[in-house]
Amino acid sequence: MLPIDLRSDTVTRPTEAMMAAMAQAPLGDDSRDGDPTVGRLEQLAAQLTGKDAALFVPSGTMGNLVALMSHAQRGSQVLVDAGAHLLTSEMGGLVAIAGIVPQVMPSRLGRMDEAAVATALTAGHAPGRLAPGLVWLETSHNDAGGLVLPLDHVARLGALARRHGVPLHIDGARLFNAAVALGVPAATLAGPADSVMFCVSKGLSAPVGSLLAGSQAFVARARALRRMVGGSLRQSGVIAAAGIVALETMIGRLAEDHRMARRLASGLAAIDAGLVETSLVETNIVKVDLAASGLDAATWTSRLATSGVLVQPRGGAQLRLVTHRHIDAAAVDMALSAFAEVARQAGTAR
Ligand SMILES: Cc1ncc(COP(=O)(O)O)c(C=O)c1O
Repeated sequence: MLPIDLRSDTVTRPTEAMMAAMAQAPLGDDSRDGDPTVGRLEQLAAQLTGKDAALFVPSGTMGNLVALMSHAQRGSQVLVDAGAHLLTSEMGGLVAIAGIVPQVMPSRLGRMDEAAVATALTAGHAPGRLAPGLVWLETSHNDAGGLVLPLDHVARLGALARRHGVPLHIDGARLFNAAVALGVPAATLAGPADSVMFCVSKGLSAPVGSLLAGSQAFVARARALRRMVGGSLRQSGVIAAAGIVALETMIGRLAEDHRMARRLASGLAAIDAGLVETSLVETNIVKVDLAASGLDAATWTSRLATSGVLVQPRGGAQLRLVTHRHIDAAAVDMALSAFAEVARQAGTAR
């Protein structure tokens, strides 16, 4: 029996329709004179995000990196929250490769303090201060348990950045989860941003790839920078074909992943109310707090694994659970039984 893999939505495998599209995709040399299937995917991505153009990149990390380099000068600052994936999980590429300095803004649940951003943007113009080169948002916010930035917050930060002549980028690795949760088109969510990155390789189930969208000039610079960092591919229509199927057929079903996350969270709360804050489950991520359980994250992870349930430990006292296409109601209920068993062993079950 396959494990119930709640570690990430990146474990989703391509659908049969994706495999068929990959086998039949018209191909070309994308680094030379273009691959028609990549071109179609890029057009579709631009259309869905309401931007002029888009660029196919192998990963979200590369999309974020070339976005930084395309927008901001070396030695400038990016205003970002401490939990951003850019800072926690992208190996310091912003500093080590792009030469950009993070200015960490005070934030709560992935939401930067707007007054602090305004102060930083104003202070950055003073002599002897590093100039702000970019404002960085993430939605849905991975570290904040999949929370979605409210539209008015994004709009206010967009207007603020524009007033200061500083671009705004959205790391939307799970942009469509955020859009589905808000009940708006992704283009509405991305509207205040100068650029947006999203992944087709996560809950949308494509095997590989991300898209970076923005103005024609921004994407032209990003295209050259993608080549610099080794992301220019050849017959990449083979993988882009799956991305097209992802965007055409998989966005609507993300609501089901969100429903499964809520089922999981309320089941966990029924086992032990201290395990999860159900009001903070907005998309497909559930954060589990183990502090009161008396067992650490490594112990929970290994005990759950013996029941075939795979979870992602976060630090010593938290787990991250992510729902996706391979997690149906039966899988959620089996995972809940495994959690109940470990809780019983820990003596915290009601
Ligand atoms: C918010 C966020 N940004 C960027 C990325 C990076 O994507 P990739 O793993 O494709 O490099 C991830 C991956 O999980 C993510 O969650």
